[in-house]
Amino acid sequence: MVYSAAAVVAAYLVGSLAFAVIVSKVMGLSDPRTFGSKNPGATNVLRSGSKAAAIVTLLLDAMKGFVPVLLVRLYGARYGMEEGTMAMVGLAAFLGHLYPVFFRFQGGKGVATFIGVVFGVHWLLGVATGLTWIIIAVFFRYSSLASLVAAAFAPLYYLFGDRLKWYAERPVTMALFAMALLLAWRHRANIDRLLKGTESRLGAKKKEAG
Ligand code: G3P
Repeated sequence: MVYSAAAVVAAYLVGSLAFAVIVSKVMGLSDPRTFGSKNPGATNVLRSGSKAAAIVTLLLDAMKGFVPVLLVRLYGARYGMEEGTMAMVGLAAFLGHLYPVFFRFQGGKGVATFIGVVFGVHWLLGVATGLTWIIIAVFFRYSSLASLVAAAFAPLYYLFGDRLKWYAERPVTMALFAMALLLAWRHRANIDRLLKGTESRLGAKKKEAG
């Protein structure tokens, strides 16, 4: 119990590292909270014009979800942790990204961290979710739409995996649905822009984003 609580708190703290802000500062770029969608995320860092910074942000934000979940999955049993802890740890890292204690609780939309969490749960789930993102992004050129569709499908892929008797635990299913709902909530301005046809497409630079 103590170990599980410590793991959840540690995951939240790791999730609270807003790498879009940190990487931009280290690389001498504008703070992503000041331009474009003002979201501290890889997509908005890309609008600064630096693909390298966007990729580093994407990877580090994904690692925040991936590493804690993977550690609990691989070594948690030694410390009495079960799938419930793994689900809580993933959710905690995700919530850390959305509401980071180090950044006045003003965080991002959670996409990269969510993808990291699903890879931590099962690599196939990660591949399916990541491919969904890529396919939608390639066809429609909207990062937000790709994120919304991928997040909606991830819990369904997880349940599908259960049908095939690969894996699946109720706490993890619930955590995935909760994260997908939160992610959609954080994208409400994007949804509004998508409906109005004013959403910024991938490849657009700083000033054009909504
Ligand atoms: O990474 C979040 C993405 O889905 C949307 O980002 O900056 O276009 O609001 P943004």
